[in-house]
Amino acid sequence: MNLLFINCCISMHTPSRTALLADAFLAAWQAAHPADTVEVVDLRSMTIAPLRMDNITAYETKLAEGRTADPDFALARQFAAADRIVIAAPYWELSFPAQLRLYIERISALNIAFGYTPEGKSVGLCRAEKLLFLTTAGGPMENANCGSEHLRALSQMYGIDQYCFLGAALQDVKEIDHETILRQTIAQAEALAKTF
Ligand SMILES: Cc1cc2nc3c(=O)[nH]c(=O)nc-3n(C[C@H](O)[C@H](O)[C@H](O)COP(=O)(O)O)c2cc1C
Repeated sequence: MNLLFINCCISMHTPSRTALLADAFLAAWQAAHPADTVEVVDLRSMTIAPLRMDNITAYETKLAEGRTADPDFALARQFAAADRIVIAAPYWELSFPAQLRLYIERISALNIAFGYTPEGKSVGLCRAEKLLFLTTAGGPMENANCGSEHLRALSQMYGIDQYCFLGAALQDVKEIDHETILRQTIAQAEALAKTF
């Protein structure tokens, strides 16, 4: 089995809390799955061109012509082929950093990650059965976890049956014991890793 880890832990903290959560999950997953492999996409400083007026026609034409082996679709092919997917990113603007949005734009390639039936129904083409999103937030997340809801809906579109989310809230509220909240979320992540 192959787990694809999308590392979007862009941070000014040393260490990044989101990275601590992700590292704990991955260590527990490797311990529980010693024969399996982890592949990493490091979005922390990767250059991903947004689709714009100067590149969208070439990009979409290749897709429309079915040229899915083109290097432009390498990230999409890698995502669609993974058995398990873990995405880690901090909670920014009620969602996640722009780097992850750019990555999503690139992996959501027609006839690689998803397609349509002749009747117009959307069908997921990704192999993974499970996708986990890990985050940490400065404040509360319960009223607007837009990043998680976006990834939940995308998982369905990609044909990934199980969407899982773990987040440690209130990490920037000094008056609250935020370290305990992070420790508890890490413990939940380590427990989930055994069956993920
Ligand atoms: C650019 C930026 C935007 C942020 N936006 C939010 C936000 O909308 N809501 C919130 O609760 N915290 C927000 N935060 C705080 C982070 O979510 C919080 O500090 C998180 O734990 C950072 O994780 P890290 O240690 O991995 O960087 C923001 C932080 C940054 C740097």
